[in-house]
Amino acid sequence: MTQPTLPLNDGSQIPQLGFGTWQTPAETAAAAVSAALAAGYRLIDTASIYGNEMGVGEGIHVSDVPREEVFVTTKLWNSHQGYDETLRACDESLRRLRLDYVDLYLIHWPMPRLDRYLESWRALVRLKNEGRTRSIGVSNFQIPHLRRLLDETGVTPSINQIELHPYFQQRSLREFHAQHGIVTESWSPLGQGGALLRDGQILRIAQKHQKTAAQVVLRWHLDCGLATIPKSVNPARIGENFQIFGFRLDAGDIAVLNGLDNPKGRIGPDPDTANF
Ligand code: A2P
Repeated sequence: MTQPTLPLNDGSQIPQLGFGTWQTPAETAAAAVSAALAAGYRLIDTASIYGNEMGVGEGIHVSDVPREEVFVTTKLWNSHQGYDETLRACDESLRRLRLDYVDLYLIHWPMPRLDRYLESWRALVRLKNEGRTRSIGVSNFQIPHLRRLLDETGVTPSINQIELHPYFQQRSLREFHAQHGIVTESWSPLGQGGALLRDGQILRIAQKHQKTAAQVVLRWHLDCGLATIPKSVNPARIGENFQIFGFRLDAGDIAVLNGLDNPKGRIGPDPDTANF
C-alpha cells in the first residue's frame, strides 16, 4: 500500500502517519516498534529524553523493513542545547539507536530562558551538512522563536512538531508554517487518549463511518494536511490507528471537528514557560 507523504522544504518526504513513542517504556519499545513496522508504519518518532532509543533502534534492526524505508526522528534534549553539546548529543542518540543517520533531528523545546536555541540550530545545520541527519526541524516552537531562527540564521526548519488535536488546533501557528513552507507535525494527536476520544460529537461521526473515535481524529489530522504520530503500546490499537486510509470524512464532519477548537485546550507544557 502506498502511504501519503508530505514534501519537506529540503526535497525529502515524510510519511504523514507515524508512530509515537513518548511514555513507551524502554523495555517495551522494541516490541512496540516491531508491531508498528509490521502494521505498516514507516515513520518512527523518539527522543533522547524518552529513554527508549535503544529499544526503538532494536525494533528497527530486527524488522524485515529495510532501514532506508523507515523515517526515523529523534530529538535534542534541553540540557544538551548549545553548539558543541548538540553535536555530541546527536552522536549519542545515533549510538543508542545503532544508526549512522536519522531522517529528522529536532530541537525538542525552545527553552527561551536558556537562550541557546540559535546555537543549537546552527549545530543542526552542520549535522545535516555532514549527513548525520537528513532533515532538521524544531518542536514546540512558537511564532516569535521561529521568526528569530529565520531572521538570525536564514535556515528554515523543515518541520515544527507541536501539540495539536481537535481540542487545541493551533490555527495561527499553522498559518505561519504554511507561509514559510514548514510542515506541521501533531504530537498527542489523540489528546493523550483522554476526553477527546469520548467526545459525543466525535463518537457520532465514528458511528456513521463504522470507525473508532481515534480513527476519526487521526483521519482529521491527515485531512488537515498534518503529519502525526499517535502513540500506543497495544498491538490492537497500533493496528487500529493505521487503518485510516480506506475512508474519508465529509465536509460536515470536518466542520464539526474544526468547531471543537479551544484556545485553552493545551494538555502539555506551554513552550514559553516550560521549565525542565
Ligand atoms: P495505549 O498506549 O495503552 O494504547 P497520544 O498519541 O495523543 O499522546 O495518545 C496516546 C494515548 O492514547 C495512550 O495513552 C494510548 O494508550 C492511547 N491510545 C492510543 N491509541 C488509542 C486508540 N486507538 N484508542 C484508545 N486509546 C488509544
